[in-house]
Amino acid sequence: MRILFFTEGTRPEPWLDGFRCELPGAQVEFWQPGAAPADYAVVWHPPQQLLDEQRELKAVFNMGAGVDALTKLKFPDGVALVRLEDAGMSVQMAEFVCHAVFRHFREFDVYEREAAHAKWAFRRPNRRSEFTVGVMGLGVLGATVAQAVARFDYPVLGWSRSPRDVPGVRCYSGEAGLRDFLAATRILVCLLPLTSQTENIMNRETLSRLAPGGYVINVARGAHLVDEDLIALLDSGHLAGATLDVFRTEPLPPEHPFWRHPKITVTPHTSARTLRDESIAQIARKILAMERGEPIGGVVDLERGY
Ligand SMILES: NC(=O)c1ccc[n+]([C@@H]2O[C@H](COP(=O)([O-])OP(=O)(O)OC[C@H]3O[C@@H](n4cnc5c(N)ncnc54)[C@H](OP(=O)(O)O)[C@@H]3O)[C@@H](O)[C@H]2O)c1
Repeated sequence: MRILFFTEGTRPEPWLDGFRCELPGAQVEFWQPGAAPADYAVVWHPPQQLLDEQRELKAVFNMGAGVDALTKLKFPDGVALVRLEDAGMSVQMAEFVCHAVFRHFREFDVYEREAAHAKWAFRRPNRRSEFTVGVMGLGVLGATVAQAVARFDYPVLGWSRSPRDVPGVRCYSGEAGLRDFLAATRILVCLLPLTSQTENIMNRETLSRLAPGGYVINVARGAHLVDEDLIALLDSGHLAGATLDVFRTEPLPPEHPFWRHPKITVTPHTSARTLRDESIAQIARKILAMERGEPIGGVVDLERGY
């Protein structure tokens, strides 16, 4: 069996060694133009040339949960595109989102600023019942995040394409459910895949529907959010703030207004990192299952885009 590996910006050796260790007998190499045909490719942001040249692939494994970088390419017919399912990401995502929710609700950002001036002052406690958290996307990550937040007794809502049932979460679905979901949400968390249907979904119109004092946490993709609409609603006072981990252009350019906006917290696409050992183990397990002719999870529906 031949496996090609391709990524930019990550040292390939530990990945190659990891796959060799999990799949002894497999030939595992870093992809170079003109490489001999392989059975599987494990990639992050591959060039179109890799897909065009490799005509014997059975599957392409994406080293992340979101496949928008791959669905933009011309994907060969009959080749499965497989994404990571959790692989240690959902607990990181729950940690990140809970932290952002707590920081806003308990006003830890205000306490931090005041501590810098040795100011000892209590703030009036906020009412948890008034800080409903709405999670857009109730998949592998969104459902875990929604349940983690619900454990702290915030009212939690969820929104997905098809109807879902997540214990402890009031679920809405489809276009018809979006209006009610937004109107009842104060802290909006985006955990949708980026598709033609979800691009720009957080815009002036949808964000205006959030309950007053709305807060936005975007941990999905930068193109879900219309940057200037967020800034306008923060400046008008309709929204209270935002924690943003993902951006249309990454790294976020130094001149981008998000960096300096007093109501925006920026993190460098770090909410849920791809963990090497967990990812290698999951992909190796799926390759072995495919070799045995068994079905695997995480196969992307290219028509749907996720
Ligand atoms: N910032 C980071 O570090 C980071 C890390 C990992 C992932 N991510 C992002 O997180 C996203 C979600 O990952 P996941 O593993 O949870 O994906 P997933 O399991 O595929 O779940 C996607 C969810 O979004 C819903 N959805 C899709 N299209 C929709 C639409 N048009 N309207 C309403 N709901 C829609 C799906 O609805 P159904 O349930 O009906 O299918 C599903 O509930 C990824 O695509 C990626 O962009 C970010």
